[in-house]
Amino acid sequence: MPRARTMPPTQSATKTRACSRASGPERLASNSRIIDSVTQIKTEAFGTIKRDPTAKGGPSTAIAGNVFFQASNTSAPVFAGATILDAADEAGIFIDNACRSGTCGSCRVKLAWGSVRMPVEDALTKEDKAGGYILACQAEISGDVVVDA
Ligand code: FES
Repeated sequence: MPRARTMPPTQSATKTRACSRASGPERLASNSRIIDSVTQIKTEAFGTIKRDPTAKGGPSTAIAGNVFFQASNTSAPVFAGATILDAADEAGIFIDNACRSGTCGSCRVKLAWGSVRMPVEDALTKEDKAGGYILACQAEISGDVVVDA
């Protein structure tokens, strides 16, 4: 059975070890710098506020138009202030989604016909827009539309 050999530490490993073994006042100063850093942490929230259809005094009963989901061969009404994703949810049609605020791009679908208004379209590239893609979570309609979902 071969014997395990212990290699002498290299010069850089020795330096690293020496730095990480700060003790006494050096270590206290280091820790207080960390604590100062922690108390000075600022946070930023990116993105937009998620839609809350009930926030505007309850859901509307006025129909803004109908959406035809080509792949599902299903049509559904879209209420004023609601989105194509809301209509898909109501109709039992699955469109992938995550943020529901126009920033992740999970709900990207192709608009085959009609037009939509999207308050937030951060997740769409120029190519997406040129290719006719929309964000279902943001797409409000004022007339009938057809999407590939
Ligand atoms: S669900 Fe994230 S952009 Fe629509």
